[in-house]
Amino acid sequence: MPQTVPAITDEIKKLIGEEGYTQAFAPIDQPSGLPNAAYWSANWLDLENKRIFQRSWVFVMADAELEGPGAIKPAEVAGTPIVLVRDDDGQVRAFHNVCRHRGTQLVGEACVAKTITCPYHAWAYRLDGTLKSRPHFHGPNRLERFENGEAEDLALHPVRCEAWNGCHFVDLSGQAPDLTTWLDPMLKRTSAYDFSQIRWIGKKGYTIKSNWKLVLENYMEGYHVFAAHPRLIAHAPMDVRWSGEWKENVFYNDYVAPGISEGRGDGLPHYPHLSTEDSRRGLWFVCMPNFAVEVYADQFVVLATYPLAPDETYEELHFFVVGDAAAEAEKYAAGREELITMWHDLNLEDVGLLERLQRGRRSMAFDGSIMSPAWEGPAHELAQQVIRAMERE
Ligand code: FES
Ligand SMILES: [Fe+2]
Repeated sequence: MPQTVPAITDEIKKLIGEEGYTQAFAPIDQPSGLPNAAYWSANWLDLENKRIFQRSWVFVMADAELEGPGAIKPAEVAGTPIVLVRDDDGQVRAFHNVCRHRGTQLVGEACVAKTITCPYHAWAYRLDGTLKSRPHFHGPNRLERFENGEAEDLALHPVRCEAWNGCHFVDLSGQAPDLTTWLDPMLKRTSAYDFSQIRWIGKKGYTIKSNWKLVLENYMEGYHVFAAHPRLIAHAPMDVRWSGEWKENVFYNDYVAPGISEGRGDGLPHYPHLSTEDSRRGLWFVCMPNFAVEVYADQFVVLATYPLAPDETYEELHFFVVGDAAAEAEKYAAGREELITMWHDLNLEDVGLLERLQRGRRSMAFDGSIMSPAWEGPAHELAQQVIRAMERE
């Protein structure tokens, strides 16, 4: 299909030049992809945060991490501190995690409380974000108290926040399409799976010295599996794999493996009513920009990425299994452990490669990827997705 190349904007031109731009839109049979600067420029990342991460739904935490009334947990999205709070009625709200007085980050660590009190001058906020009291503001020993409904202009700034099957997402812009619309390309492909059954059993975090886009590109392509992942290739050989494809904001890939194996379908209960083929299927998605998901017959695993710096990404794997028994019963303890170990080992096989990719992006001799049309079409398209999103004023 012939591509339409949008006209370069001055902002993008300043960051990657005409050459970089042309490279990003070059066909796959030529050196192409985003230019090196897009992987190490702080200004480029600032613009990605503004135009991509602040304008879309971003996965922030599992519901299970915010357990019980008064649970308060900070997070950072696109460089902006936020906080999620569960009130006494169980309702979850998100706020900008910044005091209205002098802009101090309010909550530093997860806690349980009835109010959020700023550590600097002790302004206290209720869990619905309204200001409750502030001591000494108008002079020594004068404590102001505000009833609900008063001082609304001093309340914490809310952040749009929605939940889907135990996962919390925020949209900093407040303008993104509905959450289900954003997830829809993934949900359409997974109608055989009852995700209302998924139960969180834990998570693991990794700080990787690599740009967030390299993490996604690597996640999408199955080309490296034969060389990097001995156990995964034994589960699903190259000849059951394909490149995957983009559908709107969601990348999709899958295979049907010859069988099930430990950590992938063997040892834990499956989603109800799966066909024999689906019980051997592995599916993976990237809902742009940070919600990557892997589905096997017995699990739902989230791989969430958070850029910390151009050359550093925090990645969190969240493990969900299918049904209460899988999450709690002693007889499935070994299966749960195996699942987490399998993912941890697999992820470590990628980390070293991701860090080498990042170092390679500093080479004066590297001027574009020579991508495989058989495997890397979607990674090639990611460059264009990023630039198009960056150009939207
Ligand atoms: S900055 Fe929060 S009370 Fe002063
Ligand atoms: Fe990998």
